[in-house]
Amino acid sequence: MSTDLNTISKLADLQSQRSKWRHNNQIIALVPTMGALHEGHLSLVKLARTAASKVIVSVFVNPKQFTQGEDLDQYPRDLAADLDKLKTIGADLVYAPDVEQIYPKGFSTHISVTGISEGLCGVSRPHFFDGVATVVTKLLLHCAPDIAVFGEKDYQQLLVIRRLVADLDLPVDVLGGPIVRESDGLALSSRNVYLSKTDRQSAPLLWKALIETRAQLLQGVPMQQAASQTSEQLIKAGFILDYFELCDARTLAPIHQYEGKPARLLIASMLGRTRLIDNISVIG
Ligand code: PAF
Repeated sequence: MSTDLNTISKLADLQSQRSKWRHNNQIIALVPTMGALHEGHLSLVKLARTAASKVIVSVFVNPKQFTQGEDLDQYPRDLAADLDKLKTIGADLVYAPDVEQIYPKGFSTHISVTGISEGLCGVSRPHFFDGVATVVTKLLLHCAPDIAVFGEKDYQQLLVIRRLVADLDLPVDVLGGPIVRESDGLALSSRNVYLSKTDRQSAPLLWKALIETRAQLLQGVPMQQAASQTSEQLIKAGFILDYFELCDARTLAPIHQYEGKPARLLIASMLGRTRLIDNISVIG
């Protein structure tokens, strides 16, 4: 385990470190995570490193973005392993608050971003984006970074956070980092550890479906038609599709046929007991 990576759990200690950095005109970046770090997270830390002189990584499994029956208790937690990984790529500080630090007794406020959070994941997980928006607001207030970095793997989350930051005039630049994939195309996710051996073999079909559907969209095939064939293959392979949608890349408004404006193809599915999400940019 790392011994020389500064790990802080108390807000007062974080504030004192932050003030010292501010005093020295350091540019501070925050990479919020729920731990169980993989190469995708590390790529966000590297991106943060290019834009800032000090990088804070927060590790907090946020109970408010899980609902009953979801995987809060099983969610992988291994702070020691996370610290080892972060040490090798030059993070400066890990903020690992406990639940009481973020949600003290009597905590009664939540942040709700309407509109953009309501479709896609917001339909099957209606609690999710309020939980994300609430914790991200707190983490931004605690860390007061100049820059905050989020992954494009959670594309809708990234847009919800951009909306939140714009609406509340939070003084932070939000950067999106590209999705990191296994060699067979599966997008890296902390939840991939839940996949059984057989499901792990089928999981890259999700990426294949995105690629194949995009190719058809770019040839002018309407979304419904393009998606029907690929969806059928996924269902045959055991996926239970939640959504498979073509959306405006900025507003997430549904698009029926690609007509040249920046769009995003987004998919979510259960495979066994694992929820997988993925997305791809569609630009002709
Ligand atoms: O993407 C995640 O890991 C989480 O949703 C986030 C942004 C750290 C908030 O808990």
